[in-house]
Amino acid sequence: MEVLAAKNLTKVYQSGKKALNHINLSIEEGEIFGFLGPNGAGKTTAVKLLNGILKPSDGSCSIFGINPGETPEKVHAISGVVTEHAQMYNNLTGLANLMFFGSVFGTGEEESKRRALEYLERLELLEAKDQKLGEYSTGMRQRLSLARALIHQPKILFLDEPTSGLDPESALNVNNLIKSLSREKGTTVFLCTHQLRYAEEICTKYGLISEGSMLAAGSLDELHSVVFKGMTVLLRDTDGEKNIEVESEEEVPSLVKRIVDSGGRVYHVSAHKHSLEEIYFALLEKTKRTAV
Ligand SMILES: Nc1ncnc2c1ncn2[C@@H]1O[C@H](COP(=O)(O)OP(=O)(O)OP(=O)(O)O)[C@@H](O)[C@H]1O
Ligand SMILES: [Mg+2]
Repeated sequence: MEVLAAKNLTKVYQSGKKALNHINLSIEEGEIFGFLGPNGAGKTTAVKLLNGILKPSDGSCSIFGINPGETPEKVHAISGVVTEHAQMYNNLTGLANLMFFGSVFGTGEEESKRRALEYLERLELLEAKDQKLGEYSTGMRQRLSLARALIHQPKILFLDEPTSGLDPESALNVNNLIKSLSREKGTTVFLCTHQLRYAEEICTKYGLISEGSMLAAGSLDELHSVVFKGMTVLLRDTDGEKNIEVESEEEVPSLVKRIVDSGGRVYHVSAHKHSLEEIYFALLEKTKRTAV
């Protein structure tokens, strides 16, 4: 089922800046969609349009069939948003913040507390539950902000750079939580990030945006085939380490045979598809070339 759609979605700010230029998107339920693009590409603008914080200048978008520009409150009831500037209360404890936001969404006190404690535990904040938010570190605050976005059990979760301030262990925790939400509850995730390795670990689909335009969208394999034909073979032989491009895995045995036949020794061979990072830069590069 398609749960998020954008059709020719366009945003021109009052300044005249065209932040989004007729973008089209379609996301299925339970997908973890990585929305990738350089600074200023239009990612946050898209999140704001999809949550009714901004209205489109042209085109349209919908979340579970709801138009966020017309009835933002209906979208807010089923969506959770984590941004850098999540509003929470510094003078309340972590637990009290979560319970407060639970009550805002009409969740009863007991249920709010149960959910709050569950997320505090999963995000390793249980020890800090009675500490005031004002005393939280940046990474703790980011994790609490994720718990806050989940307290009303949203069907779709928007994450705008959720792990930018997190240490590797906390980022792993957040990753695992996001994956399990998608797997166990069918929660759809819209993840904006520049951290490509992190995205590659958890995303099931990707969209690449640059200067307000979508460059490509699809699975890793689909994006791969837009810019690369074959795969890379990492080979270490008598002459040292090198990367060799081949069309398919089938070429590997004959490649090794040629080296051995000519008296070389092969110590290591591994064929791999290009990483998301390589695909990302190749796509950006390709766009720049065609623009010139
Ligand atoms: N309120 C605004 N008024 C005018 N221009 C804006 C406004 N907000 C954003 N922009 C511009 O729109 C473009 C897209 O900004 P946006 O914040 O959506 O990018 P982003 O992809 O989220 O970038 P980042 O990775 O840095 O967060 C940028 O050129 C930005 O300067
Ligand atoms: Mg942004």
